[in-house]
Amino acid sequence: MLGGDGYLGWPTALHLSRRGHDVGVVDNFCRRQYDFEMGVDSLVPIAHLQRRVRRWAEVSGLQVEAFVGDLTDHRFCETLLERFEPEAIVHFAEQRSAPYSMIDRAHAVYTQVNNVVGTLNLLYAIAERDRSIHLVKLGTMGEYGTPNIDIEEGFIEITHKGRTDVLPYPKQPGSFYHLSKVHDSHNMHFACRIWGLAMTDLNQGVVYGQETDETTMHPDLASRFDYDAVFGTVLNRFCVQAVVGHPLSVYGKGGQTRGMLDIRDTLACVELALLNPAAPGEYRVFNQFTESFSVLEMAEMVAAAYPGATRIEHVEDPRVEKEEHYYRAAHTKLLDLGLVPHLLGAGTIHSLLAVVDRHRDRVDLQAIAPTVQWRKTASTLKTSVGLGQE
Ligand SMILES: NC(=O)c1ccc[n+]([C@@H]2O[C@H](COP(=O)([O-])OP(=O)(O)OC[C@H]3O[C@@H](n4cnc5c(N)ncnc54)[C@H](O)[C@@H]3O)[C@@H](O)[C@H]2O)c1
Repeated sequence: MLGGDGYLGWPTALHLSRRGHDVGVVDNFCRRQYDFEMGVDSLVPIAHLQRRVRRWAEVSGLQVEAFVGDLTDHRFCETLLERFEPEAIVHFAEQRSAPYSMIDRAHAVYTQVNNVVGTLNLLYAIAERDRSIHLVKLGTMGEYGTPNIDIEEGFIEITHKGRTDVLPYPKQPGSFYHLSKVHDSHNMHFACRIWGLAMTDLNQGVVYGQETDETTMHPDLASRFDYDAVFGTVLNRFCVQAVVGHPLSVYGKGGQTRGMLDIRDTLACVELALLNPAAPGEYRVFNQFTESFSVLEMAEMVAAAYPGATRIEHVEDPRVEKEEHYYRAAHTKLLDLGLVPHLLGAGTIHSLLAVVDRHRDRVDLQAIAPTVQWRKTASTLKTSVGLGQE
């Protein structure tokens, strides 16, 4: 489980461990470093990795081995595969924030080097060590952008001048982060073609939620909850705004529509991909989301579910994106493998609001306002000099 200390990697590791898989988690803790850089923190306190692993052993009787290292260090990747000898690798370990990648040149370069080089090192390590390892890699629905036609699952049949082929679906991503995922997808597809590797690219939608069956077994097992403008995902952020009496800030008109899924479905989808591996030489793409909503629809759902008064406020969109557009994306492959989705309803929003309410005194209101402007080549964060800034 690469990126096993992160928001999704940690709960997925516990889920797989409890379901009988032998799991190792790998991380270099750069995600915790971004919080230090920006002066923000997870709303829900999180224990450090060694404590998490010890607590899991105590609570479940199961061992999860922790490996500390950086995927951009190719020797680390090679040693990891030699030591753990995995049958499959789940790869969550990337810088995953679009705004973070758009802060300035240094953050764009960092994001692309971290993500693209880390994944490339891994492809080489797999090809050299054991080509039967199935790689399950997290991509994003944001790779496709918002075209005015239906989005397919990775590939589209095109007839051009009387000839027909099935080709990778055209990509129009909206940030240097999303572009890093597109570059990964091309590298992975190529590695499958030349070395016969087996890979699943999970083009995941925006995840909401925080609690899973395993993370609620002890406070030390909790996963992180980001609500700040750089790392917070939209529904989690609206829940925080509702609880602290801040207007729900919708960027622009709010017609931006995205595929979404419950954190518990991320866990289920990853396990389904592992249990039904790609064939040797196969590069397959699953669109990993369960429903689509516009940003305004989500704000309205939170406002309706919150028992107190809330107000929706339209703020200038710091991103460059279509604020109203067509959106229809296929997502049948995981359903065909047996995914039973947790759909977004008032119950889920109430449980998220309850999580926020328990930690409301930790909310930093200053962290909510957007600071990163897509139209500028350098944005000023509220904090001082950070990673790679010159
Ligand atoms: N959270 C979402 O809504 C969402 C949506 C779509 C796709 N994804 C993808 O899912 C994956 C996990 O997302 P998340 O929200 O859990 O992010 P996260 O930042 O919480 O977790 C990623 C983890 O990877 C680690 N990491 C990053 N670079 C590393 C490196 N070079 N070497 C070792 N460890 C490294 C980080 O320290 C962090 O703990 C990412 O690839 C992300 O792009 C997430």
